[in-house]
Amino acid sequence: MTATAGQPSYDEVPYPSLCYTQTHPNRLATVAMLFGMTPAPVTHCRVLELGCASGGNLIPMACWLPESEFVGIDYAARQIAEGRALAEALGLQNISLKHMDILDVGADLGQFDYIIAHGLYSWVPPAVQDKVLQICKQNLAVNGVAYVSYNTYPGWHMLGMIREMMLFHTRELTEPSARAAGARALLDFLVESLPSRTDAYSAFLRDYRSALAKDWKGTHSRRDAFLLHDELEEVNDPVYFYQFAQQAARHGLQYLGEADFSTMVTDDFAPEARQALAKMVDNLVDLEQYIDFLRHRTLRRTLLCHEEVVLNRKLTPEQVEPFLVASQVKPESPDLDLRSLSVTKFVAPSGATFSTDHPVSKAAMLYLAEVWPRPVPFKALLSEASSRVYLGSEPMDPEVAARDASALGVNLLTAYGHSGNMVELYLDVPHFVLKVSDRPVACPLARLQSPQSELVTNLRHERVRLNAFEQRLVPYLDGTRDRVALADVMSELVSGGSLVVREGDRRVTDLAEARSIVVQQMDRALQWLVRAALLVG
Ligand SMILES: C[S@@+](CC[C@H](N)C(=O)[O-])C[C@H]1O[C@@H](n2cnc3c(N)ncnc32)[C@H](O)[C@@H]1O
Repeated sequence: MTATAGQPSYDEVPYPSLCYTQTHPNRLATVAMLFGMTPAPVTHCRVLELGCASGGNLIPMACWLPESEFVGIDYAARQIAEGRALAEALGLQNISLKHMDILDVGADLGQFDYIIAHGLYSWVPPAVQDKVLQICKQNLAVNGVAYVSYNTYPGWHMLGMIREMMLFHTRELTEPSARAAGARALLDFLVESLPSRTDAYSAFLRDYRSALAKDWKGTHSRRDAFLLHDELEEVNDPVYFYQFAQQAARHGLQYLGEADFSTMVTDDFAPEARQALAKMVDNLVDLEQYIDFLRHRTLRRTLLCHEEVVLNRKLTPEQVEPFLVASQVKPESPDLDLRSLSVTKFVAPSGATFSTDHPVSKAAMLYLAEVWPRPVPFKALLSEASSRVYLGSEPMDPEVAARDASALGVNLLTAYGHSGNMVELYLDVPHFVLKVSDRPVACPLARLQSPQSELVTNLRHERVRLNAFEQRLVPYLDGTRDRVALADVMSELVSGGSLVVREGDRRVTDLAEARSIVVQQMDRALQWLVRAALLVG
């Protein structure tokens, strides 16, 4: 079944250009280092992004890594023009967004330490797929890391079924918003026509609709653009992982790992399943393929490196030493005795858990939660946690100190492998403040993004959703206003009618009352912006 000729181009309907945490050079370098590579320092590297849309992923990186150099390529002129305008408004000198076809990239573009192709490979014809991998070989520095995301089987067999039904239903529609509305209407029709059925098909349709509704949160145009390009694009060719790995190998590239490191770890499977897997496979590619069968995987974010690179897949606790560590896990029970050897369970915001009886590790997790979102260098973390356990000093016995360092390293690696959001590892983190200053400064990118969108990019390269009040406040956080001046401008917005404040359900129109609510909301908003890593001064 093929799409109709009505599918809009990326010039007609631009792709919502957002940041992707997993593509950041920091993440690529982290996984590379864990597997024994010596990647280029994130603070001084060259990064190429293929299919960069309007630079929503690359521009934030260029903002926070001023000594690194960024090149983005896309053949949609409108998207490149939008990206260039934003880069210029930010005064960035270290990024070049090129309007060109990936097929025209040659060796003369130069060598890059990190190459990113996100949301591209599955949506382009075979010749372009091949070219993407060719670039990942030809333009990748010796110790470089390439990131390619793609849709995978077996998961996409089920998703593809819905895509094909949507394509059939919208085959006569040419106007983009009508096509998007038609696709949504079909899904509603399918789900609502089978309300009482309990079979797997009905359950899948319902789950799919609610998952998409969650993804579709945001403006109509953004929802439509995602639907039109992600689901209804003319080309959408998922592959099995082993096929992708074979294709990469033909280009002289080897499988390094996944940007989502925890997906390579099988500790969520029962011990019997792990034993059976170990008997079934004798190489990593096959193991990963069976993991996809078990997890019904729909998407991979695969990292590749040159076939000549010698990797070391044995993880040791010392490997954590060069990293900065961040975590916001909390102990399940608040009354925790740091010096006891009882097991403590820590819970991540996602609900993932991790348990340890090691006192220094417990103290380390508590400390990280206190200073979240600030990442702490491993050695400083060990020292702080030890002094909390050994009451103000570190252990005198070097053997005890070495055992603590090793146990903390093992625990951090275990938690990192167990879940993507339990422990974060960084090689470099841009500066953000942890206390609201007298004249707060939001990062310049968020100040430019917030008037257009409720989604802004923070200094941790994450998308952060602002509420209406924060969205209006952020552009004024340029370091020239103290709290009184900020309350003045926000109150003016209320009196001008462009910002609404409420007390419960009641809209507040009395200006004195509105101002006191503005002051309270502003305090809350500023505290929240600190925790969201959006303030730089
Ligand atoms: C689905 S979008 C993904 C954009 C972005 N990487 C992201 O994930 O948000 C695919 C992008 O690749 C670009 N693209 C597709 N084929 C291309 C080609 N042959 N040369 C250059 N850009 C291409 C499109 O214009 C579009 O911006």
